[in-house]
Amino acid sequence: MQADIFRRRLLCLRKQAIQSHAQLDPQGRANSAPVPFGHFKDVHQSFKRSGQTPLVAIKNITFDLKAGHLVTLLGPSGCGKTTFLKIVAGLISASGGTIQINGRDVAEPQPDFGVVFQQANLMPWRSILDNVLFPMEILRRSDAAAKLRAQELLALVGLEGFEQSYPSQLSGGMQQRVALCRALIHKPKLLLMDEPFGALDELTRMEMQDLLLDIRVKTDATVMFVTHSISEAVYISDVVAVLSKRPSVIADYIVVNLPYPRSAEIRYSAEFTDLEHRAGRALGITR
Ligand SMILES: Nc1ncnc2c1ncn2[C@@H]1O[C@H](COP(=O)(O)OP(=O)(O)O)[C@@H](O)[C@H]1O
Ligand SMILES: [Mg+2]
Repeated sequence: MQADIFRRRLLCLRKQAIQSHAQLDPQGRANSAPVPFGHFKDVHQSFKRSGQTPLVAIKNITFDLKAGHLVTLLGPSGCGKTTFLKIVAGLISASGGTIQINGRDVAEPQPDFGVVFQQANLMPWRSILDNVLFPMEILRRSDAAAKLRAQELLALVGLEGFEQSYPSQLSGGMQQRVALCRALIHKPKLLLMDEPFGALDELTRMEMQDLLLDIRVKTDATVMFVTHSISEAVYISDVVAVLSKRPSVIADYIVVNLPYPRSAEIRYSAEFTDLEHRAGRALGITR
């Protein structure tokens, strides 16, 4: 399923890359207008079911995303997090509402987005370097500069020396680092991450959270991250948008003012625990 989505996304990217390189503002609006980077208003999603009433996955999601921010969608399993991320990615169309990035409606996958799923979905027959370079091949930009960037990204995530290895020779955490490099290779403006560390052990997961914070400093990507882990959400985010149970609405919108750089010690601070409690209350698991 995820491999299908990945293939579909890449085909759309290719189509768009051929059609236009930089559709910065096809609606003709001035880029200097004070539009938020991401604008989501009254987003609604229901799915048809044969012989039953439609399933309402998302009732109403409304919030703005600032450029350069990392927002986490935190919510219980089945509340519609993946559905919302796929809508923002342009992989599925919302039943209703406004979904805008950079003042432009999102209706299909965009060349300046990067996506990371829970499974790395690497191509087993390709070397690590060639996996990272794959989106550049689709975009027809696989040149010497792209190869250099792939090598730099692999070094950044601690995979220097593994360029010619194959996915089966890497651990789950290493494969997910490769998937992150693949998502970053074309310098996306928006990085969408759907429980990317969910399949990893606790220690690796914490390492990956630090790696993501580090990468944010070194790239200017805005990030939308999905998780059902309260501590992960609080640790990595500028904003935590807590989703209610299905049909989901925004139950709380928590601005995380913890200082950067963040490190493991901060997880034991009173401020951190307060934020975790607030998220827990919004989820209905603490009082
Ligand atoms: N393509 C689909 N067709 C029908 N129902 C769907 C589809 N995708 C998701 N759903 C339903 O929408 C709800 C939210 O799913 P999902 O977004 O995957 O939740 P989450 O990622 O928060 O666990 C679930 O009840 C799921 O069964
Ligand atoms: Mg999901």
